[in-house]
Amino acid sequence: MSEAFDAVDVIIAKRDARELSDAQIDWVVDAYTRGAVADEQMSALAMAILLRGMNRREIARWTGAMIASGERMSFTHLGRPTADKHSTGGVGDKITLPLAPLVAACGVAVPQLSGRGLGHTGGTLDKLESIPGWRASLSNVEMLRQLEEVGAVICAAGDGLAPADKKLYALRDVTGTVEAIPLIASSIMSKKIAEGTGALVLDVKVGSGAFMKTVPDARELARTMVELGTDAGVTTVALLTNMQTPLGLTAGNALEVRESLEVLAGGGPPDVVELTLALAREMLAAAGRGDVDPADRLADGSAMDVWRSMVAAQGGDPDADLPRARETHVVLAPAGGVITQLDALAVGVAAWRLGAGRARKEDVVQAGAGVELHVKPGAVVRGGEPLMTLHTDTPERFGRALQALDGSYFIAPEGSRPDLLPLVIERVAAG
Ligand code: URA
Repeated sequence: MSEAFDAVDVIIAKRDARELSDAQIDWVVDAYTRGAVADEQMSALAMAILLRGMNRREIARWTGAMIASGERMSFTHLGRPTADKHSTGGVGDKITLPLAPLVAACGVAVPQLSGRGLGHTGGTLDKLESIPGWRASLSNVEMLRQLEEVGAVICAAGDGLAPADKKLYALRDVTGTVEAIPLIASSIMSKKIAEGTGALVLDVKVGSGAFMKTVPDARELARTMVELGTDAGVTTVALLTNMQTPLGLTAGNALEVRESLEVLAGGGPPDVVELTLALAREMLAAAGRGDVDPADRLADGSAMDVWRSMVAAQGGDPDADLPRARETHVVLAPAGGVITQLDALAVGVAAWRLGAGRARKEDVVQAGAGVELHVKPGAVVRGGEPLMTLHTDTPERFGRALQALDGSYFIAPEGSRPDLLPLVIERVAAG
């Protein structure tokens, strides 16, 4: 088949900071998906995009081309509005687990297509798979039935949704081109728009444990995604939230499920509760149900009821004991004082090295592995008190995890105040 363009011309255009035409974008995304543009050519183009950027029209067209590479779902026939949440990924970010059943308990259906973790940020599916029997893969028919009957579903995104992104994301991962804002925004939004949700709330993480290390970068990513969603007819709002320090007190699969259950039972760490409620309020407002207060549904147990149905509908046993790691190691405070820093990235890497995450797609994760924090920034500790407990089935991993944690926390003299960003830093909406 003769091709409409030459890949080299497209690469050179972006390398020289020229705009790509609609036709060039449509062609290059399609040709890459069907194998007519080689990996090395797409890598060069991704690097040129990272270095030269793209304007709003180019990003919107690129996103549209990725959507067009696969199927589109629709939930318009459901008797309720739909809302979804996407987090750009952080350490200890288990919010989806309590959030999806909570929003469903408020009358808005939540179709949540999730992924597995790669690197130091955990994946929602890995967390749920620590529940005995729970199954991540559902057919489209099963997913729709669960949405109708239970109101919430968290499952693996099928291969049919934005296949161009699947291929491109794997390539970016090994070519140093993940961090390009146009590519991150189009990757996330192509999947969310193709998924067919009516409303979308984005949790854009900022800080050491996130892709975006600074507020200005996170704001630009959030604005780009809000514009893409709005232009596609999806009511889209973003919150920039703090990822300097881990969210909650746990990082690791079963550990995070346990903490989510505490939140659904009306307890849990204050930051996890605050962010769950903030995101739930945004999702409800975006879906036209801003009149419902999600805090009531946590308090009256109805969010927990939806969780139990949601787990059972996917083969999981909501009453089963969650796995625990065979070995633990406690890290003690070397001196007394105030914890002024506890670095999210270091805790994420430690949890990963303990076996909670994977280095390659094929790796198997340990359900019980991870890090349990006993203190957070702002806490006062005495020398010799436990700071955190490391969990793993394979104790030879402790050494490398401890190396990752070296220098990850700072204990200042009592009376010092940590310089903390608020949990919710900023809201970005259309207009
Ligand atoms: N998550 C995605 O789905 N895509 C990216 O590019 C980055 C994070």
